[in-house]
Amino acid sequence: MPRIYLDHAATTPPDPRVIEAMLPMWTTYWGNPSSIYLEGQEARRAIDSARKLCADLLGVTPKEVVFTGGGTESDNAAIRGAAFAQRDRARGNHIITSAIEHHAVLHTVEQLEREGFRATYLPVDAAGVVDLAALEAAVGPETTVVSVMAANNEVGTLQPIAEISRIAKAKNPKVVVHTDAVQAAGAVDIRPATLGVDLLSVAGHKLYGPKGVGLLYIKNRTPWQPLILGGSQEKERRAGTENVAGIVGLATAMKLAWDEFDARNAHSRVLRDRLLFELPERIPDTVITGPADPSQRLSNNFSCCFRNVEGESVLLALDMADVAASSGSACTTGALEPSHVLTAMGIDPDLAHASLRLTVGASNSSEDIDRVLDVLPGIVSRLRSLAG
Ligand SMILES: Cc1ncc(COP(=O)(O)O)c(C=O)c1O
Repeated sequence: MPRIYLDHAATTPPDPRVIEAMLPMWTTYWGNPSSIYLEGQEARRAIDSARKLCADLLGVTPKEVVFTGGGTESDNAAIRGAAFAQRDRARGNHIITSAIEHHAVLHTVEQLEREGFRATYLPVDAAGVVDLAALEAAVGPETTVVSVMAANNEVGTLQPIAEISRIAKAKNPKVVVHTDAVQAAGAVDIRPATLGVDLLSVAGHKLYGPKGVGLLYIKNRTPWQPLILGGSQEKERRAGTENVAGIVGLATAMKLAWDEFDARNAHSRVLRDRLLFELPERIPDTVITGPADPSQRLSNNFSCCFRNVEGESVLLALDMADVAASSGSACTTGALEPSHVLTAMGIDPDLAHASLRLTVGASNSSEDIDRVLDVLPGIVSRLRSLAG
């Protein structure tokens, strides 16, 4: 039986059209983009047109787009870059983020605390939405950076980023607002003007593009300093010989995601809604995590917890049934701690251990969902009977 891949939030299979666009960057245009001779200039042109394409899709100018080594690097560079630049301008040292960010953000902010910054981790409600009153209360004259993710990777919650930005800037116009749009890209409108943000992170591999490449949008005149030092690439904002194929792949993947936005999201929504509505009917004691209203979560995200089962055992049994699934963040799989996202949403740590995330994508069909709906009830009831 063919395997069923239901972990598109962890990564997506590269689109053949993306691979096709990338291939010539290895076979023909392999020159160093910083070289002045023809081979270099061909590679430079490929980067320039990729940057122009990404900028157009985001509704920004090409010089506001910096290519990076992925979502994690974009998040690190955004937060550290703004925090230090703001501190150098004597604007303060207070950073605000949410309790349910990806570790790329949380661990960066925790490290900044060790380096003398002050941090506030905003609480969220049971659906995972950031407490806006807590944000308003937290922003003060010393606040320099606010970083809240556009969509959560575990439970799919969409955050009101435009409102978050408005609240933060109304209390302190000097605040720099960053959003991690790694999961949101391709699922919602992430144009910086729509969201009202100064910094925004995107990663290629969540969009049917390559791994190890991303972009950071840096709004013109935002206080920011680079994370990676060396050569003068990316206008001295990200040193290192560019990943030309990756950059071309990222731009192509973004273009396809924007062009096919409606069809992809409609396809995901139909499959995901079947999981949301049919799984709890087939498996007693299934607790849906994240927003109950499907329109308030990523179109491809289903997440739940099963009472009286160990989440990891469900994943192993699904893998044996040829279904690739996750317990939430790819990074927390295998960890003994329950997910920080679920516990921040008030879910009991015991229940949080039994979490399952199924994220659908372009390659999935209704038959895939039939099979999951078929095998999962048996798996959960077998594990429950073993647990006694
Ligand atoms: C919300 C979010 N931010 C950041 C990242 C990290 O991106 P990358 O894997 O490209 O470093 C991920 C990946 O799982 C993510 O889901």
